[in-house]
Amino acid sequence: MPHFLDIDQVDPSDLRAMIDNARAMKAARGTRPRGASDDEQPLAGRMVALIFEKPSTRTRVSFDMGVRQMGGQTMVLSGGEMQLGHGESVADTARVLSRYVDLVMSRTFREDTLQELAAHAAVPVINGLTDRSHPCQIMADILTYEEHRGPIAGRRVVWSGDGNNVCASFLHAAGQFGFHLTFTGPAELDPDPAALAFARSRGVEARVERDPARAVEGADLVVTDTWMSIHHPEHARARRHALLQPYQVNAALMARAAPDALFMHCLPAHRGEEATSEVLDGPHSVIVDEAENRLHAQKAILRWCLGL
Ligand code: CP
Ligand code: NVA
Repeated sequence: MPHFLDIDQVDPSDLRAMIDNARAMKAARGTRPRGASDDEQPLAGRMVALIFEKPSTRTRVSFDMGVRQMGGQTMVLSGGEMQLGHGESVADTARVLSRYVDLVMSRTFREDTLQELAAHAAVPVINGLTDRSHPCQIMADILTYEEHRGPIAGRRVVWSGDGNNVCASFLHAAGQFGFHLTFTGPAELDPDPAALAFARSRGVEARVERDPARAVEGADLVVTDTWMSIHHPEHARARRHALLQPYQVNAALMARAAPDALFMHCLPAHRGEEATSEVLDGPHSVIVDEAENRLHAQKAILRWCLGL
């Protein structure tokens, strides 16, 4: 079953084909208005379920729009409204949904929930974020980087801050697309060791550098994310902020990157915390392009999953 669960689990040539397909579909839309349907309707007659245990703006709207543009339909199911949130097993939910819909996109807390859904579903499952990873976001980010600066292979990416779910998917992508990634952040919030090991196993540099100024020196791309992800408990806020403050991406840190470096953030941003408004709205920033490219990248992922 062609699930899209994590970037390290998909063949690199398929990942490359998805990025190229996303670019072609984006180009084919030309200057037509947002929301209009595509000329091609590969998802005509298909139904996609979008499950959300957590809040979302970009993932929800971009998947919904992408399916509709390709002629399909969606139903949005929030965790609390489903029997899943009231004791029904994930396996039973997966088996039953597979009798109704053609594909399931799911945003869950626990990684296990996603894995169990995929194990028991008879239709493709797409990971729309778990506590552990966020692969759709990074496919959009690869598309965004390459639109602005050409091939990402061989480039130097720096992740500054929390070694979280989005960082793990960036490390998977480093291995699959062949770019180097330096993590700079406090030891307590280091990235998933398996994700670091995966990147290294593919022959790219995946380093940890505690000094943010040294890490960012000459970087082609600087990336950060919120200091408090949805799954982090409120009581951890003060400690996390104290640990992460030295890794804020501000104008002084960005000035150490290459002159044509890009700045990325998956959003939602907490202005003045992980990044300043000067950087978020500054000349290096491509944050809104990343958000738009969720739409195009996910359309390519949907087509790959459905073999269309
Ligand atoms: N970047 C991202 O996934 O945003 P949402 O949480 O709004 O979906
Ligand atoms: N790391 C963030 C990403 C949100 C898109 C979170 O998990 O909340």
